[in-house]
Amino acid sequence: MKYGRTIYLLTLTLCFNAACSGTSAQSTTQQTTQPQQNASPANSNATTTTNQTTAGKQLRTPDVVYVPTPDEVVDAMLTVAKVGKGDVLYDLGSGDGRIPIKAAQKYNVARGTGIDINPERIKEAEANLKTAGVGDRVRFLNEDLFEANFSDATVVTLYLLPALNLKLLPKLLNDLKPGTRIVSHAFDMGSWKPEQTLDVNGRTVYFWTIPAKGTPAYAAASAASGGGGASSQN
Ligand SMILES: C[S@@+](CC[C@H](N)C(=O)[O-])C[C@H]1O[C@@H](n2cnc3c(N)ncnc32)[C@H](O)[C@@H]1O
Repeated sequence: MKYGRTIYLLTLTLCFNAACSGTSAQSTTQQTTQPQQNASPANSNATTTTNQTTAGKQLRTPDVVYVPTPDEVVDAMLTVAKVGKGDVLYDLGSGDGRIPIKAAQKYNVARGTGIDINPERIKEAEANLKTAGVGDRVRFLNEDLFEANFSDATVVTLYLLPALNLKLLPKLLNDLKPGTRIVSHAFDMGSWKPEQTLDVNGRTVYFWTIPAKGTPAYAAASAASGGGGASSQN
């Protein structure tokens, strides 16, 4: 379990460094004439933009590279969250769209949305959606997950990085209704203890529900987010 997680982190780090190595070299040699691009996932609040453009929008460098969740892990994530026909599911950082597509095909969600900052991933997901036969219930949005509105979610799925989960936690606590289920492949939420942890062929899946404000559970989740959630008094 730990070994798989270490390999994943190493892979992401290597891929990310490879993707950004041109930028780093350029920054070193041209520091005084060009702004340095944000290459650090932990620094994703930076407003530096990349040359990715789509539908007139300019989006910044992804916080984490694309690595798909294996199919059996997708099934475990959707099963542990008891995903079903009343649900509105969002996959934050949706890659090739496999999670919202399967949630609609096999688990019959009312609506599935994938959000990805990378327009290439959105193109792939839309191509996959065309052949999946669930286009009436699934959509893909080329947006930054930290800026997106997913407040109508009843289920949120994640496969990001530990620091990104923690960065996202205040938004999850502020924006989502109590009872919304959160499932994360591979990465936890620091001191916010999951209600369930599964081992799926060496991959870890974590499950939480958003607590009601004013409860001890909410205070614990808020503390894990660095106190970034809404006040526990409202
Ligand atoms: C590890 S992949 C997970 C893909 C998919 N959720 C899965 O489990 O198969 C992470 C995805 O997040 C996307 N991503 C990275 N930073 C993002 C951001 N700030 N907003 C939206 N998507 C982002 C990447 O482009 C990539 O497709």
